[in-house]
Amino acid sequence: KLKMVKICCLGAGYVGGPTMAVIALKCPSVEVVVVDISVARIAAWNSDQLPIYEPGLDDVVKQCRGRNLFFSTEIEKHIGQADIVFVSVNTPTKTRGLGAGKAADLTYWESAARMIADVAKSDKIVVEKSTVPVKTAEAIEKILIHNSRGINFQILSNPEFLAEGTAIQDLFNPDRVLIGGRETPEGKKAVQVLKQVYANWVSEDRIITTNLWSAELSKLAANAFLAQRISSVNAISALCEATGADVAEVAYSVGKDTRIGPKFLSASVGFGGSCFQKDILSLVYICECNGLPEVASYWKDVIKVNDYQKSRFVNRVVSSMFNTVSEKKIAVLGFAFKKDTGDTRETPAIDVCKGLLGDKAKISIYDPQVSEEQIQRDLALKKFDWDHPVHLQPTSPTAVKQVTVTWDAYEATKGAHGVCILTEWDEFRKLDYVKIYENMQKPAFIFDGRNVIDPQKLREIGFIVFSIGKPLDPWLKDMPAVV
Ligand code: NAD
Ligand code: UDX
Repeated sequence: KLKMVKICCLGAGYVGGPTMAVIALKCPSVEVVVVDISVARIAAWNSDQLPIYEPGLDDVVKQCRGRNLFFSTEIEKHIGQADIVFVSVNTPTKTRGLGAGKAADLTYWESAARMIADVAKSDKIVVEKSTVPVKTAEAIEKILIHNSRGINFQILSNPEFLAEGTAIQDLFNPDRVLIGGRETPEGKKAVQVLKQVYANWVSEDRIITTNLWSAELSKLAANAFLAQRISSVNAISALCEATGADVAEVAYSVGKDTRIGPKFLSASVGFGGSCFQKDILSLVYICECNGLPEVASYWKDVIKVNDYQKSRFVNRVVSSMFNTVSEKKIAVLGFAFKKDTGDTRETPAIDVCKGLLGDKAKISIYDPQVSEEQIQRDLALKKFDWDHPVHLQPTSPTAVKQVTVTWDAYEATKGAHGVCILTEWDEFRKLDYVKIYENMQKPAFIFDGRNVIDPQKLREIGFIVFSIGKPLDPWLKDMPAVV
């Protein structure tokens, strides 16, 4: 039976917020306080307008907030009172210095660890929730122990596997919960304490316990494997376009093999999100540091194919529209990195828009969950700069003049020469494409980066259609393209 424990989580982001809300919901006897250095973010968690959009999240937060779930900026006080401290701060890619562009930047993690060491007055279990390089626990342990003043710290690795857009579902019913710890009696005891928390709603056969290094590496490996499936199917999509095969049919047939499985085989304009690229780069760097250049280059190629997929999409757009989009209006439907989230971190839409802007297009963007301010900030930020606490980012970057943002798909497409679908929002399947066609310049082009529309039906309306990995429109076959 779980004794009364207090939990504090550092980092009220996409992981810390939903994860702690679900722990609070499922463990009414546990008091959970989520803290953050961003005052604005904590204020939003305490308001009716939560800082992140996630189906089902509002409901969970409403049930527990003020009961056993709290959001606060009083970091020191709540660390001091906690038995278990989760660290769920961001671990971006380093932008400068040793390992720049690859290695994980542990600045936020380290300052969190030092803070814990400074304020702790009783023994604590410190849980790595953030995705970190293998062996981070060892570094954190050193910081804590050297500053401990006689307090005992146990470090656990408990990586999070939720995906955005389905976070609540994933947390309620995880494929597995992974807990890594030291193989000492104290380490094993700490693992059991955390296991007891999850056992409130996760069946024991889904709670895996391992050593620290296996847990840390499993998270990086899982993300690398997932991203690799997408790059594999995206590489095949290019060959489909060249040969007249249909990537959906190929993926279906391949995925029917039970050894391969049907999930995560949808060809797209490229994967995005805050994790895949960052974590693969981190894995690549760890391989290089361990004298394994072949292994590093194997995983690096997953990212190369992803970059190729985004740039060949842009090339298709430009080459089919007579090799220039200069001053042409291009509508972009969807900016988030996937449906059911307002998150735009590393979204392929950023690279596609930048590519089109490079060719002087005028872009009109509609996404049901992303604000104009966010889009302008994303298009202005430099590579990797996005992954730093929100309050450290520029609030009013110079707006890109060639870009407008609307709250309506019909407004965005009015008078456009072409439409690019970059996120698979369900509503894009149900738009009135006859109406859209009538209000566009002719010839009217549609480039479907998520395979949400039926190319045949749209061709019947009059559109010239490009869909990822599908047999090419006769129009595109005649256009010389560098893809
Ligand atoms: P996020 O940027 O949304 O949230 C991190 C929060 O930590 C920010 O609000 C920031 O202000 C805060 N923070 C930074 N330093 C702090 C400190 N010293 N004390 C208190 N708060 C501090 O990031 P996220 O998406 O929640 O990701 C967090 C970690 O979880 C990353 O390591 C990420 O790789 C991992 N992860 C993310 C996902 C995902 O889908 N987003 C899934 C699994 C794992
Ligand atoms: C991912 C992992 O799935 C999750 O387990 C981990 O904890 C964090 O990273 P997330 O990035 O939130 O989650 O979303 P995910 O569903 O994995 O999608 C990532 C990107 O891949 C999106 O841009 C999505 O559109 C793309 N994708 C996904 C495809 O292009 N094709 C697919 O078949 C699946």
